[in-house]
Amino acid sequence: SEFKDLMLHYKSAIRTVRTKLEILNDELSLKNSRNPIEFVKSRLKKPASIAQKLRRRNLDVSVKSIKENLYDIAGIRVVCSFADDIYDIAEVLASQDDVEVVEIKDYIKNPKPNGYSSYHMIIKVPIYLYDVKELIPIELQIRTIAMDFWASLDHQIKYKKEFPGAENVSRDLKECADIIADTDNRMLKIRKIIESSTAESNVNEENQ
Ligand code: GTP
Ligand code: MG
Repeated sequence: SEFKDLMLHYKSAIRTVRTKLEILNDELSLKNSRNPIEFVKSRLKKPASIAQKLRRRNLDVSVKSIKENLYDIAGIRVVCSFADDIYDIAEVLASQDDVEVVEIKDYIKNPKPNGYSSYHMIIKVPIYLYDVKELIPIELQIRTIAMDFWASLDHQIKYKKEFPGAENVSRDLKECADIIADTDNRMLKIRKIIESSTAESNVNEENQ
């Protein structure tokens, strides 16, 4: 069916981007002697969630409407070791000439009021069917292990919206997000100190 075809297209777009990420991880690992990517997760939005989202926005529930209106049918989450890895990965991906950047939302520079932090990108990548090439949109969420920890737990407890004491819980969650962001920054600084001191000792060894 037309819908099944469409989902296959999103699935192959996910494969394309996963391969790009693997290659990128290999290249950056060689350059920096460590893996910038801890792990990658991907998902296809379920038919029920697709229909629900379209109805919520008063849009047609059809293949045409999905293609025109939804950019998060295919989703990839890239979990990085350090905060600067996020920008390296985003930049290299965006610079590839078969990647079209549709939208960027930087919730790291501008966290959501609840504390949510992550780098969101919508990109389009080509997939090749036997007679045509099609550009498929994918939503990427790039974040550190620490940001992923917060977002995963936030997601699990989110459904309880209104209850006595909800305000305190929101404030606590935001405070946890702030602590996590601070810890991410400190870990990055520690890594940089170690890198620069080992780089110096390498130079000294070479000069002897
Ligand atoms: P949607 O229509 O809901 O997709 O919103 P949007 O198109 O404005 O996208 P946005 O970039 O704000 O967020 C999309 C995705 O980011 C969500 O589906 C979640 O996976 C994640 N996300 C955004 N905000 C939060 C949050 O407060 N907590 C958690 N845990 N995840 C979030
Ligand atoms: Mg979305």
